[in-house]
Amino acid sequence: MKKRKFLPFGLLLMASAAALSAATVSVKVDQPGARINPAMWGVFFEDINFGADGGLYAELVKNRGFEFPDSLMGWITISPSLAKGEVSVRDDAPFDPANPHYVRLQSEGTAPFGLSNEGFRGMGVRKGGAYDFSARVRDVSGGSRLSVRLYGGDGTLLDTVALQGFSGSWAKYTAVLHPTDTDPKARLAVLVDGKGTLDVDFISLFPENTWKKRPGGLRADMVQALADMHPGFIRFPGGCIVEGSVLARRYQWKNTLGPIEDRRLLINRWNYEFVHRPTPDYFQSFGLGFFEYFQMCEDIGAQPLPILNCGMACQFNSGELCPMDQLDTYIQDALDLIEFANGPQDSPWGARRVAMGHPAPFNMKLLGIGNEQWGVQYFERYEKFAKVLKEKHPEIALVSAAGPDPADPRFRLAWTRLRELHADIIDEHCYAAPEWFFSNTHRYDHYDRNGPKVFMGEYAAQSVAAVSTKNRNNLECALAEAAYMTGLERNADVVLMASYAPLFANTEAWQWTPDLIWVNSLQVVRTPSYYVQQLFARNRGDRVLPVAMGEPAADEEKRMYASATIDDTSGDIIVKVVNATAKASATTLELEGAAGIKDATWTILGSAGLNDENTVESPDRVAPEVRSVSAAGRKLSLDLPADSFSVIRVPVAR
Ligand code: AHR
Repeated sequence: MKKRKFLPFGLLLMASAAALSAATVSVKVDQPGARINPAMWGVFFEDINFGADGGLYAELVKNRGFEFPDSLMGWITISPSLAKGEVSVRDDAPFDPANPHYVRLQSEGTAPFGLSNEGFRGMGVRKGGAYDFSARVRDVSGGSRLSVRLYGGDGTLLDTVALQGFSGSWAKYTAVLHPTDTDPKARLAVLVDGKGTLDVDFISLFPENTWKKRPGGLRADMVQALADMHPGFIRFPGGCIVEGSVLARRYQWKNTLGPIEDRRLLINRWNYEFVHRPTPDYFQSFGLGFFEYFQMCEDIGAQPLPILNCGMACQFNSGELCPMDQLDTYIQDALDLIEFANGPQDSPWGARRVAMGHPAPFNMKLLGIGNEQWGVQYFERYEKFAKVLKEKHPEIALVSAAGPDPADPRFRLAWTRLRELHADIIDEHCYAAPEWFFSNTHRYDHYDRNGPKVFMGEYAAQSVAAVSTKNRNNLECALAEAAYMTGLERNADVVLMASYAPLFANTEAWQWTPDLIWVNSLQVVRTPSYYVQQLFARNRGDRVLPVAMGEPAADEEKRMYASATIDDTSGDIIVKVVNATAKASATTLELEGAAGIKDATWTILGSAGLNDENTVESPDRVAPEVRSVSAAGRKLSLDLPADSFSVIRVPVAR
């Protein structure tokens, strides 16, 4: 977050002072209301847009185990100048039956011969960094060396090491590469040097600088972006990926544990979901599996919210159903997951957690049953899950689904039926125009306070239309989301949690836009929407305070939205105001009932234009700026810039 004394907004304001409108925001400091769930503002993670493989999971080699259906996808044969040889893909006597394919590199020895990997649309490597190479190798004949080379996108050799001494049995060999330059499009070559034949498999390259320096871990800069948000929870692993286009391709958490070599590859449903955005090289290695998700949640202080398949494939695809009398396997998966996360060390699944290095429980309190399901088939499956889970684990709150869109009959039916089933928390999804969010800030004011709680589990303002490839993460969308979030916050007694979706997108391999955080192989770009989420999460407060807005002079000035909370520990009053008008507003913030207030911290998110966004080239165009504002009595005067979101933290005298 930038700290500046003189702000561009100030200059903008001076220029448009004549156009200033006036507003009053009054907060009743002495009338705290509903408690706010400490985990209210969280994140939705799905392996979409190369979010895991090619994203959070820091592996740089694509198709490292040659298990893609096109075994050599991501690899090209390198036979420079005089090199002669042959590459064949085999599956006889592999090093691991879970990873049956490997390559045989047969070189005639005239020059180094072998393969080169392109990474996930280029390997991002940094000068001064250390990169752990590993591969399984077996000598077939000749006792030749393996030359491992890292090349820059322009062909410059960035580093090389030679491995030798292979035997006739599979073994793991390692080396460390130190690139001489930073390159977003590096490639890794493995070449047989000398006449001979080698079998090679599971070729891997990881930065040593992963999150918490864990070998084979997660991309540090991406996890840092999450940690910087202070999310209250992480929902994982999706999204439609939970459901699969058919049940055989559903996400099965048990297949994501243990040694990475044993985690069987699965095609990612976003590989082929959109005809207009095919991504044929998109697969799930599960290097980021359920243990790693739980670990990441713990690292950044977020509650884990796993979502499990409920016996239904994606209803936008096959809608395949597991027959009701065969649902027990799915329910058992849920019971086993609770044991894996929370169970004692000597329980079968608790022991699996311990074996992976985590004796203490992960303290899971939430579990989602199904993703974006709807209809009677869902209700009957949810009911069966809930009956067993509530009996055995009443301590776990269950998240149930209300379909894809709040403006449709399936949604209303879901609420009616799930209310009858005494559901704990209902997951609402909404991808709509910015105007929908602006005009729905009072949506929850009239919800039944005694029924299930709301999880606004997927939402994002769409600058063009849902699923349009033209959607932008611009300031207008971020302001619409901020306005809507003031409504969620004011209704924190019924809205328990909320998360923007989707979370990550690779600038070169995305299927869905907009997304909260964009990355390429070396950079992370935080969108205006990211900053909105971050400002809410870092300025949550513990209890809701009543807010009143003065009657606006003109219709246009009605586009101001506010909420307020109190932080019980510091005593700070936190006020959030969106000025979604084209005019700056001379706003008086009154803190009624406060014994006295001190100078406040005012964080502003805005920009010169509503279409402004952050890009790889200009990552900070729309970023929060912080200034301090003097108190006068119980009032603060704030010139709220046009089209801006403000968070004002006011310390009160106690
Ligand atoms: O967030 C992208 C997709 O939108 C999710 O996978 C799905 O739940 C919703 O339809």
